[in-house]
Amino acid sequence: MTYLVQEQLKPHGLKGISDDQIEEHWALYKGYVGNTNGLLAELAQAGAGTRHWAELKRRAGFEWNGMVLHEYYFGNLAAGVQMNRRGALAERLAHGWRTVEAWQEDFVKTGMIRGIGWAILYHDPLTDSLFNWWVSEHEVNHPAGLNPILVLDVFEHAYMVDHGAGGRSQYITAFMDNVSWGAVQQRFADSRARKAVSRFAAAA
Ligand SMILES: [Fe+2]
Repeated sequence: MTYLVQEQLKPHGLKGISDDQIEEHWALYKGYVGNTNGLLAELAQAGAGTRHWAELKRRAGFEWNGMVLHEYYFGNLAAGVQMNRRGALAERLAHGWRTVEAWQEDFVKTGMIRGIGWAILYHDPLTDSLFNWWVSEHEVNHPAGLNPILVLDVFEHAYMVDHGAGGRSQYITAFMDNVSWGAVQQRFADSRARKAVSRFAAAA
């Protein structure tokens, strides 16, 4: 299996996240696709049970999740898309946090947790529950069996070009202004229907 760079996911013309910033970030995403393919090919050739094979196995979660999470991230960015406040996702967010605004405040604070990683709104299709979750680096602390609905990259490389190393707060504000809610709502609908949440769907 060879994984491809998903060009259709590349956002442009965002408000407060420049095309130059996206270009720099996109190059890193392409690196994860290449490294995932390289690692899987190398693993297929490595002798099972060797130290080299074991180290590749340990490394796989970093490269794989680096690829996949960037696809969800770029796929949930587009300019000028509003959340459907009467839709199923808004209703469920309000159910979990009392109001959509309270959910967003919690999500933003999750994204401000110190360290490099991701803030992710996850859905548990078996209980219809939503969680704002912190993932360290790309692979630490994922909740097994839950589907990613909204994915926010808070590595410094996501905002260095526009805001500098201290600009995470301004960047998250800009991110929330550019969420492709149509794509996010579709992920939620798919998860609720117990279908695979596509990471290849372009932003609406
Ligand atoms: Fe990133």
